[in-house]
Amino acid sequence: MDTEALRTSSGVTDDPARSGSLPAWAYLDPDVYERERHEIFYKTWIYAGWAGELRAPGDYMTVELLDQSVIVMRGRDGALQGFHNVCQHRGHRLLEDRGRVAAITCPYHAWVYDLDGGLKRARATEHTVDFDRSCFSLKPVRVEVLADKFVFFNLDADAEPLGPRVEDFVADVRRELPLFDRLVKVPPRPRTEAEERRRAEYFPIRANWKVYMDNFLECYHCPPAHPGFLRDLTFDDLTYTGHDLWAKQKSGTRRPGGDKQIFWTLFPTFVFWNAGTLEKPAIHAMNFAIPDGPARTYAGPMDVYRLPGEEDREEWRPDWGDVGGEDKALCESVQKGLASLGYDRGRVIYDPDGGNNEGAMHAFQRFVVRALGI
Ligand code: FES
Ligand SMILES: [Fe+2]
Repeated sequence: MDTEALRTSSGVTDDPARSGSLPAWAYLDPDVYERERHEIFYKTWIYAGWAGELRAPGDYMTVELLDQSVIVMRGRDGALQGFHNVCQHRGHRLLEDRGRVAAITCPYHAWVYDLDGGLKRARATEHTVDFDRSCFSLKPVRVEVLADKFVFFNLDADAEPLGPRVEDFVADVRRELPLFDRLVKVPPRPRTEAEERRRAEYFPIRANWKVYMDNFLECYHCPPAHPGFLRDLTFDDLTYTGHDLWAKQKSGTRRPGGDKQIFWTLFPTFVFWNAGTLEKPAIHAMNFAIPDGPARTYAGPMDVYRLPGEEDREEWRPDWGDVGGEDKALCESVQKGLASLGYDRGRVIYDPDGGNNEGAMHAFQRFVVRALGI
């Protein structure tokens, strides 16, 4: 698609009752994907993990985002800081996974960086003319902690701070989950062999990342497609809230005690929900859809937050049948259909009073078209 076509209006308008859904070309075209890479993933706030995991100076985590890798680290002054995970000598990757270091040493030629990112030592540079170490500091990445819990980073040095833009989101989470502030990330439960096998079969989703997000953000498809899910959730009281930067889907459940089920999404792709109860919350938080090209999608690692002393236990997960497998099949069918010469675009289905509503999906699509200027 050329630039001319990219300027074509997406047809996604502000009023969900009147809006078209994103056209097929927005999911297929490699130029749109390139634009998303630069205008969405390199410019918005992306979830990295739990702030409480980085307690002491030198504690770090690494986060992968498309072709980028980022280090988030506690500095000597106690502040969190972010760096591109790349050595300024010849570009080798610096750190893996997570851990604690006294300094960052590159595995390739052993340049050593201080915790503030400054280049401390570069071996055998006495004869390198005009070598100025201060010109080779690690490149910084913006970092912010949301609600004293979730670490976010943004690859855009000029990005607007996240916190002031989502105060209503944080207030909503605290209102719905009174114990939210006490939750801590619990160590990941080792996956069983069956879970490993299933995960390997599940990813990648052979669909555009927005197809996967769209599907997550509406339950209009739940009655026909998710019989197991509807044995747990009550559908008729399902409500949707769509804002500029976030959305929420909330319904009752049929679990003993009748807790609520709420899914929050912070655009573009941070998702979390409480799979426990109000008294014993089990928050599952993740980057839901990370693209690997226009037609392949992975999810980021899932973090589980519980009250101190609780574990990540399988039995706390509600039984939703094979909702994941069903969604994968739906998304992969849609991706094929988007390429059909017989499909152009559909309509957003909007019902403010019931579950048959694509209002949260519409909020996401509006976020996308605004970010891309289409
Ligand atoms: S690439 Fe890191 S020291 Fe050479
Ligand atoms: Fe679904």
